[in-house]
Amino acid sequence: MATLQGILADKQIKSDAESLAVWGKDWTNGFPVAPSAVVFPESNQQVQALVEYALAERVGLVPSGGRTGLSGGAVAGNGEVVVSFDRMNRILDFNPQDRLVTCQAGVITQSLQEYAAEQGLYYPVDFASAGSSQIGGNVATNAGGIKVIRYGLTRDWVAGLRVVTGSGELLDCNAGLVKNATGYDMRHLFVGSEGTLGLICEVDVRLAAQPAPQMVMVLGVPQVVDLLNVLAGFNQRLTLSAFEFFSDLALAKVRAHRELPAPFATPVAYYALLEFDEGSLDAAGEAFEYCVEKGWVVDGVVSQSQAQAAALWQLREGISESIAPFTPYKNDLSVTIQQVPEFLADVDQFVQDSYPDFEVCWYGHIGDGNLHLNILRPQHLSVEEFMAKGHAMSPKIFALVQARRGSISAEHGVGLLKRDFLNYSRSEAEIRLMKGLKELFDPAQILNPGKLLKA
Ligand code: MLT
Ligand code: ZN
Repeated sequence: MATLQGILADKQIKSDAESLAVWGKDWTNGFPVAPSAVVFPESNQQVQALVEYALAERVGLVPSGGRTGLSGGAVAGNGEVVVSFDRMNRILDFNPQDRLVTCQAGVITQSLQEYAAEQGLYYPVDFASAGSSQIGGNVATNAGGIKVIRYGLTRDWVAGLRVVTGSGELLDCNAGLVKNATGYDMRHLFVGSEGTLGLICEVDVRLAAQPAPQMVMVLGVPQVVDLLNVLAGFNQRLTLSAFEFFSDLALAKVRAHRELPAPFATPVAYYALLEFDEGSLDAAGEAFEYCVEKGWVVDGVVSQSQAQAAALWQLREGISESIAPFTPYKNDLSVTIQQVPEFLADVDQFVQDSYPDFEVCWYGHIGDGNLHLNILRPQHLSVEEFMAKGHAMSPKIFALVQARRGSISAEHGVGLLKRDFLNYSRSEAEIRLMKGLKELFDPAQILNPGKLLKA
């Protein structure tokens, strides 16, 4: 009989109740948490041995990174073994000629950003949870965040992967090459696969040149449609690194939570947060004046120092944390940018008509069409009652997404939360092919069982 003790040292195995509760879940609430053990491999070979163990013992493996996910992708609810990459957290190699850094999957995203800076380079994927999330998890969910309009998603920076499949084979995908026209690029299948096709052990990450110091501008924009006019107005004149938005309700929550001052004397329905190279300040000033003349923007503030830039970013990056106490019904949706105003109005209308006592808190990465829709729980409803209402609401909201050929999960992933709604964004034929891939890479269905695809 295969045993975990036969593969790992005692310090690499935890099965006490507290550890099971901590490593058995991510930031998502509402799913049962019941792993049988948590293991901490230190090498690719140990990961392979764990897959052999799972095959022999017919037990599921749930890969676990920084556990910052919001779709239940790292929740273990059925006696699975959680495979934490916390002890595979070393940077293995740096190759300056190719600007490539090879990381074990458990390297914290922020540590990679800092390492890149030490080499005079830049890792551009960034988001509020970068201090806790791990690069393996970022790859598994194709993490996006706040700089996508300029730098793209995690996928765009993955130059190679070492992955253990559900059959226990260690695949070496692409090895840092820029050009490689030898057929299917399996690296990209693993990006965004949410641990269902393989356990990502190592990532070759391409780094970028360091950008100039950044400046931040916050603008007051009364109409959603004008957020997009503002985006176009700025895009015509300069390169933006970020274009985010939040509603006045979102601002109120983050200000209350972090005790932050209001950006303007008079509240505005929506705010845009823009980031750009300091050398573009004159062009940004011109764009600002143009937008004010057009009546799209009624107020604005620009950072005068790095500290002020960071303070303005707090208004956007602190929102998620500030609304967590309201156990929001969270959604992470995308449509093409052009469709954003009509889509947002339709969702608002639906909620107002069906649930007039619910508060809708909008924020997100509007520059790339990714909107975070968070509906806040009214105090008179228990978490269970509110979640049931959220569940009932989902098909209606997802139908609005589907009508626009949008995505029901722009960046948070499908996990358990969206699994039963995948058909709103993927056709029957696509889901059939996805299941075929799952069968090929994980024939015994031991990898992150029940996530992304229904059995
Ligand atoms: C964000 O953009 O703030 C994150 O995706 C987290 C969230 O949506 O709550
Ligand atoms: Zn986001």
